[in-house]
Amino acid sequence: MTGRIDAPTSTAIACAVDHLRAGEVVAFPTETVYGLGADAANPAAVQRIFALKGRPADHPVIVHVGAGDEAMQWARSVPDGARRLAGAFWPGPLTLILPRAPGVPDVVTGGQDSVGLRVPSHPVARALLRAFDGGIAAPSANRFGRISPTTARHVADDLGDAVAQILDGGACAVGIESTIVAFAGEAPVLLRPGAIDVRDLSRTLGHALRESDAAAPRASGTLASHYAPRTPASLVAADHLRAEILQLGGRDEIVAVLAHTVAQPPDFAGVWLRGPADVAAYAHDLYANLRTLDAANADVMLIERVPDGEAWLAVRDRLVRATRGVDDDRD
Ligand code: TXA
Ligand code: MG
Repeated sequence: MTGRIDAPTSTAIACAVDHLRAGEVVAFPTETVYGLGADAANPAAVQRIFALKGRPADHPVIVHVGAGDEAMQWARSVPDGARRLAGAFWPGPLTLILPRAPGVPDVVTGGQDSVGLRVPSHPVARALLRAFDGGIAAPSANRFGRISPTTARHVADDLGDAVAQILDGGACAVGIESTIVAFAGEAPVLLRPGAIDVRDLSRTLGHALRESDAAAPRASGTLASHYAPRTPASLVAADHLRAEILQLGGRDEIVAVLAHTVAQPPDFAGVWLRGPADVAAYAHDLYANLRTLDAANADVMLIERVPDGEAWLAVRDRLVRATRGVDDDRD
């Protein structure tokens, strides 16, 4: 079947619901990135996501639901802190990892005793969830290890022929994956930073949030070489960028650059993208920019380092992963 891109009309959403009920996989927009969705209560359908992505079977997927109280039905217990975060940030770019309720399929949890839950805010995701009236298991709609899609076109480029339908909700407003907080042990742990500032999470919880460590539940999005472009990429400080470009040019290498403060040198012959200096705008454009640079088939990709500090934490996290090269441990 050829995956087709549909404007999110009520007919298209009804069609997506039919696909989901039939155990098929559809791609849909969320405010973070596009998701590859299947009926979370149908193990064979969720299995299909893994086959499509080429993702190892023991990696858990997030269950998307329409409302907070519905999310809590997938959990065995809901700690106070989780309730507070849900109240403050749902619907929105936050995933909570909670002890799983009995009956949540193993294929959804990767066999773990926890389940990832999220109430997205994108109007098309919300309309789809409302019409489907159930949980939709959805990882990012990219092939395992590649850059997450932030437009319907990105999804079609990666998976086009393999998905029954792609609902087009425009470019994702946030542009990077949700913040993940796990409530599996005693204290909540930040498994993946996202658009929500960690200081706001801590303020809502009433205490500091622990950073992920080896003892925390596994989140494959936290593996070192996630989100990798194909072109070898490295992070370069602003004041070293010109020297680095000169050196590579001297070796006849074609260079692709993502800068956000440094201006393009007049004699530069490669591909130069100017990222926004504002963090939210930078995140919004990040994956599209990485895809554009990757498509240039340059020998090397250079990314200007972004600022230190909490506000840029999630962007830095994605850039560090994007510049660590390629191995098999990618989601
Ligand atoms: O913004 C997002 O979260 C997007 C959109 C589509 O909602 N989804 C997304 O899914 O990024 P995915 O599968 O690419 O990344 C979800 C991460 C994975 O690293 C997975 O291992 C982790 O969440 N995860 C899901 N359930 C988990 C669980 N029960 N315990 C630990 N980690 C879990
Ligand atoms: Mg992913």
